[in-house]
Amino acid sequence: MLEEEHPSPENSIAVTCGPPIMIRYVLESLEKMGFGEEQVYTTLERRMKCGIGHCGRCNVGPRYVCVDGPVFSLKELRQLPDEM
Ligand code: FES
Repeated sequence: MLEEEHPSPENSIAVTCGPPIMIRYVLESLEKMGFGEEQVYTTLERRMKCGIGHCGRCNVGPRYVCVDGPVFSLKELRQLPDEM
């Protein structure tokens, strides 16, 4: 559906949230349409538990989702280990 609508990446950003499998496919589609890594943002808040930096359960590599995010650009996601 997103590719049918084919929004222009010119002067645009894309923000996505939802189930991880949906986000994965939306990110792929946005890249196909020409959106750059710094034009795409998504959230990893589903990984959060305490939300205040105490439990240590939301880490992805060296980053804590609740402290460093929960919103990350696609460029930042690519720099994290593939644990999603
Ligand atoms: S959710 Fe507990 S440390 Fe991030």
